[in-house]
Amino acid sequence: MTASQQSMVRDIGLHPSGEQKIAWVKAHMPLLRQLEETFRKEQPFAGKRISMCLHLEAKTAYLALVIQAGGAEVAIAGSNPLSTQDDVAAALAVRGVHTYAWHGATEDEYNMHLRSVLDFDPVGLIDDGADLATILHRDRPEQAKRIAGGCEETTTGIVRLRAMANEGILQYPMLGVNDALCKHLFDNRYGTGQSVWDGFMRTTNLVIAGKTVVVVGYGWCGKGVAARARGLGAQVIVCEVDPIRAVEAAMEGYAVMPLLEAAPRGDIFITVTGNKYVIYGEAMKRMKDGAILGNAGHFDVEVSKPDLEGLAVSVHQARPNIDEYRLQDGRRLYLIAEGRLVNLAAGDGHPAEVMDMTFALQALGLREVLTNNYAPGLHRIPEHIDREVAQMRLRSWGIEIDRLTLEQRQYAESWQ
Ligand SMILES: NC(=O)c1ccc[n+]([C@@H]2O[C@H](COP(=O)([O-])OP(=O)(O)OC[C@H]3O[C@@H](n4cnc5c(N)ncnc54)[C@H](O)[C@@H]3O)[C@@H](O)[C@H]2O)c1
Repeated sequence: MTASQQSMVRDIGLHPSGEQKIAWVKAHMPLLRQLEETFRKEQPFAGKRISMCLHLEAKTAYLALVIQAGGAEVAIAGSNPLSTQDDVAAALAVRGVHTYAWHGATEDEYNMHLRSVLDFDPVGLIDDGADLATILHRDRPEQAKRIAGGCEETTTGIVRLRAMANEGILQYPMLGVNDALCKHLFDNRYGTGQSVWDGFMRTTNLVIAGKTVVVVGYGWCGKGVAARARGLGAQVIVCEVDPIRAVEAAMEGYAVMPLLEAAPRGDIFITVTGNKYVIYGEAMKRMKDGAILGNAGHFDVEVSKPDLEGLAVSVHQARPNIDEYRLQDGRRLYLIAEGRLVNLAAGDGHPAEVMDMTFALQALGLREVLTNNYAPGLHRIPEHIDREVAQMRLRSWGIEIDRLTLEQRQYAESWQ
């Protein structure tokens, strides 16, 4: 069997452009380069089968290759049918990674891809949004017992895994990468902040300055999305349900109000809550003609498509990746990337330097969970790994920092 025959990709002939993309991100991911070297020497994953489910673009591809360099046999599926890049998938298949993904997969095809990475019979997992965990626990309980452990990438996945752990059904240990400081402080905030506007601008080719942007959800991602919108010259309104985060947004200088009040004011709406139907029919009915709706949360359920479809008298593509919903009174609402996360389904995702930190956590977390005896359940990434990743980041920038003297350490630890 050739490498390409072990994979399901759109067109294996696309691999040169995928290789080029991987080479570009590799040049900007010094932490992963360092880990690739270490793993190649130490072979922490020798003989182990690892299945990954992540947005399949160049940065993820490089992570897969780093894990492969550590001795693993790797299978990968995309974590969203619109974020898979076919040339990158082809490049991975050529490099001997079992790749099951293509852009625009139907729901059935997408599920087949996820099942294929599980048919690979992995001992270790890298999951995103807990899709693999859900299939394992719902349909394959016997296989779930054979998983030695893994890492989960995002907030939504951690919420789902925590629910499983609380019910006492999670069969294997998972490290929550998103809960590491070096993940959510940088990836969710600065990564989502920048890449949402990158995806938005390249898809719409419209200006942000002078517009009113409504950010629904002021969590780690929402803080970044709001800050960068302001930096681009927008007036920003924040909608929240958590009073503490609403106070935080107000003290940052944003207007804070309920969605129904913000609806007639906004030109652009970005949801980033991890929740369902946070923009719903009543709000849509109040929006201006031409309002643009995008989602940056993990699943495509944040903007209620059933409500939008129910209100629309016609739907057509206004531009690639933008659907125009015409309402009865003639108003038009635009939805980007079918409501899937705008930075990945309408862009290239987070910048490489940001994902370098996140994926360093993934690589070190996977080694940690597969070489130590963690009990089944959801665990934090150990603090020393978080600190190691921050130190690697600083070293890669040539930044040195001060150290506490013995006297200062003793002073900080004493109470007198
Ligand atoms: N697009 C990306 O690249 C990317 C990156 C990281 C995380 N994510 C995803 O983005 C989502 C948010 O992640 P986060 O780390 O910011 O989570 P978070 O938990 O820090 O923040 C979510 C916020 O949304 C608020 N919220 C929930 N329901 C709401 C509602 N109905 N109206 C208004 N506010 C509401 C919560 O109170 C909370 O403050 C998750 O789905 C996560 O998986 C996406």
